[in-house]
Amino acid sequence: MSDHSSPDVVVLGAGLAGLGVAYRAARLGARVVVVDRDRVGAGASTVAAGMLAPVAEADAGERDLLALGLQSAARWPGFARELQEQSGVDPGYRELGTLVVARDRDGAEALVREAQLREALGAPVQRLLPSAARRLEPALAPSIRGALLAPDDHAVDPRAALEALATAARACGVVVRERTTATGVAVHDGRVAGLDLQDGTRLAAESVVLAAGAWSGSLRDALPAEVRVPVRPVKGQLLRLRGRVGAAAAQQVPVLERVVRFDAGYLVPREDGTVVLGATMEEQGFDTQVTALGLHELLRDVHEVVPGVLELAVEQALAGLRPGTPDNAPLLGPHPALPGLHLATGHHRNGVLLAPITADLVAAGLTGTGAPIAPAFAPERFSTAGLAA
Ligand code: GLY
Repeated sequence: MSDHSSPDVVVLGAGLAGLGVAYRAARLGARVVVVDRDRVGAGASTVAAGMLAPVAEADAGERDLLALGLQSAARWPGFARELQEQSGVDPGYRELGTLVVARDRDGAEALVREAQLREALGAPVQRLLPSAARRLEPALAPSIRGALLAPDDHAVDPRAALEALATAARACGVVVRERTTATGVAVHDGRVAGLDLQDGTRLAAESVVLAAGAWSGSLRDALPAEVRVPVRPVKGQLLRLRGRVGAAAAQQVPVLERVVRFDAGYLVPREDGTVVLGATMEEQGFDTQVTALGLHELLRDVHEVVPGVLELAVEQALAGLRPGTPDNAPLLGPHPALPGLHLATGHHRNGVLLAPITADLVAAGLTGTGAPIAPAFAPERFSTAGLAA
């Protein structure tokens, strides 16, 4: 067994981003320790719905993000297969496709613009009449006004994926230290020397990876002043729903074969018959309480899209914190202002989608085997040093 009293890499954050980088770096030969102030997946990773939907979620000003999302989506089948082989755990990757549905005339007009945007970006979509959409998904409301099919936008069960990833990482020699709080990145001679812990010890290492999700920006005291990480928490509330025990057929889970996205949310069907209804977007700081207003927002319009959803039993209501950045794009790779500091954070709405490419790009940077990462994702793009450069 390798010696992890002096690892090569310490990763701060045991979510999909941190564990993905740790796993990939370990497979490339690095000795890796992952530290988390809580437990594995205590942040956004286990709250996420698991949409792998770069096309359905594409935004006009985010061309680079779409390209990164498409690259990562293409890596998911291989990543899922690899994790299953390494861990024996099914990561819950399913090729479903996604329907973007308009529930009224305004929505239908917006959908035409959405289709044009995606076609201009070269993203694969098919425009569907309401009747064609309902033939694909009979649970859709008869009143829907149009739909777009993104045939290559799929889904994964993030909790299963995280379990597979954590198991695979440990099998590759990664040491995971839960309930371990970091107090600072240690710096010596202008480069990273390791991670200082609350118990007064130091994990000496040549490289530290900041992958603490929404908490990455709150670690200002743990980071040298020249390194700015403008990550803020963006709260999302969601519901896990399922058919009622002993219920009449009308109260069973509406059979959705695909992910359904609409203007006010999305529905992600799981293989176990549950359906995830998400998600709010709230600027509430580090608040993770489920609120009546949040649930109202989730449920208010869904009957106009898949009416049967309102018949379902509520299995769980959850809230999590996305790591938001000023331009909604992640911060990936080495930080030029501090040699040895690498970032894998700021994934906002795309943490699950971007897990495989984050793992590959950041681990390649750690082991010196990678090509440069696109400037759109440069960790220093918001810092004074980065602006001055
Ligand atoms: N990717 C969906 C969400 O963040 O709600």
